[in-house]
Order: sequence, then structure tokens, then C-alpha cells
Amino acid sequence: MKLLVTGGAGFIGSNFVHHTLATHPEWKPVVLDKLTYAGNLKNLEPALQQGRCEFVQLDICDRAVLDAVRGCDAVIHFAAESHVDRSIEDAAAFVRTNVDGTHNLIQACREAGVPRFLHVSTDEVYGSLGEEGEFTEESPLQPNSPYAATKAASDLLVLAYVRTHKFAAVVTRCSNNYGPYQFPEKFIPLMIAQAMAGERLPVYGKGSNVRDWIHVSDHCTALDAVLQRGREGEVYNIGGRCEKRNLEVAKLILATLGRSESLIQFVSDRKGHDLRYAINCEKLERELGWRPEIGFDQGLERTIAWYRENMPWLDDVRTGQYRDYFQKHYVQREKTFAP
Ligand code: NAD
Ligand code: DAU
Repeated sequence: MKLLVTGGAGFIGSNFVHHTLATHPEWKPVVLDKLTYAGNLKNLEPALQQGRCEFVQLDICDRAVLDAVRGCDAVIHFAAESHVDRSIEDAAAFVRTNVDGTHNLIQACREAGVPRFLHVSTDEVYGSLGEEGEFTEESPLQPNSPYAATKAASDLLVLAYVRTHKFAAVVTRCSNNYGPYQFPEKFIPLMIAQAMAGERLPVYGKGSNVRDWIHVSDHCTALDAVLQRGREGEVYNIGGRCEKRNLEVAKLILATLGRSESLIQFVSDRKGHDLRYAINCEKLERELGWRPEIGFDQGLERTIAWYRENMPWLDDVRTGQYRDYFQKHYVQREKTFAP
């Protein structure tokens, strides 16, 4: 299967490429990524060096995506602006990439006759919960942040093309991921990086907001199942059945790293901060037999170990060096990387 992975140099996309190479060695992943600040080709080593994966640097808003999708058996669409705080500062790039870019990609896939499209979305499209209840696929879409609004718009576009044009697509909505290669602006890697450096951990408000955490490997196995067996036109929730308050997570990270809780610094709350997310993923479990397998304690420990063992990766990201990698290594060695 020739599989185009948009956003494959980002956190979840790169984990999905590694998952694919490990579990479906016969598949040929092609990563299409603009390489924004969130894209890092180091996430794809050694797959690129071994020629097991091809890379195309392209913006999903570019008309040239048509050439990239031609001949693909499936497209899995991760590319997006993904950080809520950035969308609160300025949402223009979110509207452009998440809405216009997704639309451009849909049009290209239709024109090229791509037989399968998986749109990777988020539980944030459902908005926020109070202390009780959970999101099902039937919950109304009530996005609160500009990021979530653009993701909801892209979901609706995909589903509208399914209804109107019989576009062969399926949509997933997942809860908060954590694991290797996550950019350290997101809560868990930021807390780990700060704790390792003995610096303050900025916790918004009182740290009482709740997120449903899932290890990225479990998200990847769910996406694999949906890509292969999900019913066309359907939405599948994906979650870890693992609700935690932010403060609890920060304390757990400090304890694992042997650091004092006095490093926690309560800072101004995020504007419009969603209180709680909780995902009901029974549909996916029932229809496709998927289950999350990595418990939070084990997953967090592994993740902390990964960041500890990959200090050069973290340093490169924090200093901005990772942005030179494409120029220094890929451009000169293009022939080696592209099989
Ligand atoms: P990320 O920010 O780590 O990666 C996004 C990738 O998309 C980067 O490699 C970036 O370079 C690329 N990209 C951005 N704009 C592009 C454009 N115009 N053209 C081509 N490539 C572009 O994001 P992530 O956390 O890996 O999330 C991936 C997807 O999963 C997103 O669609 C996000 O909404 C969704 N999601 C994320 C989570 C989570 O917890 N991180 C949970 C549920 C769903
Ligand atoms: O639910 C899925 C979503 O999870 C994805 O769609 C998004 O792409 C992803 O970024 C994530 O969104 P969140 O806003 O939930 O994740 P973030 O890591 O930014 O924040 C998690 C929680 O931690 C949230 O309640 C805000 C809080 N937080 C975050 C940061 C960056 C802090 O307290 N301090 C911080 O410095």
C-alpha cells in the first residue's frame, strides 16, 4: 500500500510512520510536510536514512499536492496547526492550514481518485465537559478555542464531501496524546523538560483542568484499525480512559524525576480554558476490537525515560537547531533519502 502521511514530521504523524514500518513492512509511507516550527525530520530518523520512507516538503494548501496524492492507496491526514495557546495569540495560520489546507487536500484526493482518506481530528471539537459525562460521536460540536473551531470546520468539510460527493473518508477524534517526539510546548513534554532542567513548571490556573491522556502508540494502533477497517463516512472517538487533573500530572513528573513540588508555579489561566475532556470510545472498541494498552503510570515513565535518553533531540528543539537539519542533511543527501 502506498500511504501518504501528511504532517508526518510532527509528533503523532512520525510515531505513526514508525508504527507502520514496524507492523506493515510492505507498506510504503510517503511523508508530506511543510516543516513548520512543529515539523522535525529528526523524528523520522532512521527511517529516512534507511530509505524506508520517502519525504516531500510541501504545504497542504499548495495545488501541487495533487501530484503527491496521485497513485496513493490511502491518505492519512495529520497536518495541522495544533497548539491551542498559539491559536489564541493568532489564529490565521490555523484557518489557512486546518480549513483551507484540508479542503485543498480533499479536492486533490477526489481529483486523483484516492480510495481512502483518514482525517485525524480531536476531542476538542466537542468543547468542554463539566465534572460529569463524556463525549460520544453524537455529542454536539461546540469548539471553544480557535484551534478547535478550525478542526471542527475541517471535520465538517470532510463529512460534507462524504455525503455530497461520496468521498471515501473516515474521521477520528482523539483525546490528549503523550509520548516520544512531542514538541515541548505541550503540557507533558514541557513539564518533563522544565523538571529535568530544574526550572519552574508553569501550571495554568489552579491545575484543576482534566484531560483524558492516551499514549501515542495506542492512538497509532487505533488509527491503523480505522484506516483498514473503519466504515466509510463514520466518526470514531479514540481515548485512553485515563482522566487526570493537570496538577496531578505535574506532581507525578516531579516525583518520577526526584524533583521538589516547589518547582510548580501557578500562572495565569488560559483564556477560555476547557475544564474537562472525557472520551467514550465504545464504538471503536465494539466495531474494531481496539483497546488502549498502555496504562498512564507505565506510559509516563517510558516517556520520561525517552526524554532523558534523548537530550540532544530536546536541546536541538529548544535551541532551534533542528530547523537546520533539513538544509544540512536532507537537501544534500536527497538521493539517499528518497528511495
Ligand atoms: P504537531 O504540531 O506535532 O505536527 C503537525 C505537523 O503538521 C508538523 O510536522 C507540521 O510541520 C505539519 N504542518 C503544519 N502545517 C502544515 C501545512 N500547511 N502543510 C503541510 N504540513 C503542515 O501535531 P500533532 O500533535 O502531531 O497532531 C497531529 C494531528 O493530530 C493534528 O491534526 C491534531 O489536530 C490531531 N490531534 C492531536 C492530538 C494531540 O494530543 N497532540 C490529539 C488529537 C488529535
Ligand atoms: O484533546 C486533544 C488536544 O490535546 C489536541 O487536539 C491538541 O492538538 C493538543 O495540543 C492538546 O490540547 P490541550 O490544550 O489539551 O493540550 P496542552 O498540552 O496545550 O495542555 C494540556 C493541559 O495543560 C491544558 O489544560 C492546559 C494545561 N497547560 C498547558 C501548558 C502548555 C498548563 O497548565 N501549562 C502549560 O504550560
